[in-house]
Amino acid sequence: MRSILVTGGAGFIGSNFIRYWLDAHPNDHLVGYDLLTYAANSASLADVSGRWPDRYAFVQGDIGDYDLALRTLRQHAIEVVVHFAAESHNSRAVVQPAAFFQTNVVGTVQLMRAALDANVERFHHVSTCEVYGDLPLDSDEMFTESSPLVPKTPYNASKAGADLAVNAFHRTYGLPITVSNCANNYGPYQFPEKVIPHFVVSALQGKPMTLYRSSRNKREWLHVDDHCRAIDLILSDGDIGETYNVGSGLEIDVEGIADRIVHVLGLDAAASKVYVPDRPSHDRRYLLDSAKLRDSLGWAPDVDFEDGFRRTVLWYRDNGDWWLPLLARLDIDERGWHSAVGKHA
Ligand SMILES: NC(=O)c1ccc[n+]([C@@H]2O[C@H](COP(=O)([O-])OP(=O)(O)OC[C@H]3O[C@@H](n4cnc5c(N)ncnc54)[C@H](O)[C@@H]3O)[C@@H](O)[C@H]2O)c1
Repeated sequence: MRSILVTGGAGFIGSNFIRYWLDAHPNDHLVGYDLLTYAANSASLADVSGRWPDRYAFVQGDIGDYDLALRTLRQHAIEVVVHFAAESHNSRAVVQPAAFFQTNVVGTVQLMRAALDANVERFHHVSTCEVYGDLPLDSDEMFTESSPLVPKTPYNASKAGADLAVNAFHRTYGLPITVSNCANNYGPYQFPEKVIPHFVVSALQGKPMTLYRSSRNKREWLHVDDHCRAIDLILSDGDIGETYNVGSGLEIDVEGIADRIVHVLGLDAAASKVYVPDRPSHDRRYLLDSAKLRDSLGWAPDVDFEDGFRRTVLWYRDNGDWWLPLLARLDIDERGWHSAVGKHA
């Protein structure tokens, strides 16, 4: 039996990970640790306490609160930390950059200090492909684990700062870390500020989907369950101190995502889209070389994209109770970048 702390457990990937792990590892005990910011939704874990009453606990707290983090780690005899908690929305980071550096860099440092003092056996840091910067649209380049970190947005830069801090804690203090840098995830329980649920929820309300003018910008898409399986494998077979890229190799541009939603929901394409100015520093393309994870640990994605994407769109269609209460928290105006440039907090 292992005792695992999952930070950001009430967010998109964290809640999927908690459900995945409790199902896949029947002897383990999990503690969700989350500040419950605007991006969290306790409803994402509504079934978890009922299904696994003795194996799941929740603590509301800030990763930047060293005392609470240490107390929680000790009280639950935590052996492994899986660190998802972050401010994660690129658009919000343009207008509130300081909060991103506070949580993603300083918060991660405080959490690592607590993890060191609690002698955890593993600190797994969940990061993103976006730390490597972006790629030209028409190249066949990919990012490897040794690509330089050249982030271009406040969100990417704060995640890159966290990655550097995690590696520094390993080298300086011997914190037993692993890091995964993952491509764009899709799946259920994603906050409707992010592109797929944002588009689906807009369409379901009869509103047009707001595409940035550079709608041919591409992303690499991975189902959240495949991300969870990759982290599981890295925890069991990965080498301490190593970083692993996690990507599907499947690139689809934002126009293609919108068109698929139109198709699954049976809508009229022309009436369903509106084009708005690009967000400042709108990254063009990211693509990961995941050969290290595939060759050394035998990982490969299981979920077929078209099937996983369709199931995801239908999940949002069928779970309005989950996303309707979140709409009141959507306060970033994706149509107003021309007037927002230069404003930041
Ligand atoms: N979503 C993606 O496509 C993707 C891809 C690669 C990597 N990642 C990384 O995975 C992680 C999770 O992403 P997500 O999409 O689930 O994000 P999310 O925004 O859905 O969830 C983040 C969670 O962290 C919590 N949180 C924020 N600040 C906190 C703090 N100070 N203390 C404790 N909890 C706090 C929030 O309440 C929320 O529940 C992030 O680190 C993100 O950078 C995400």
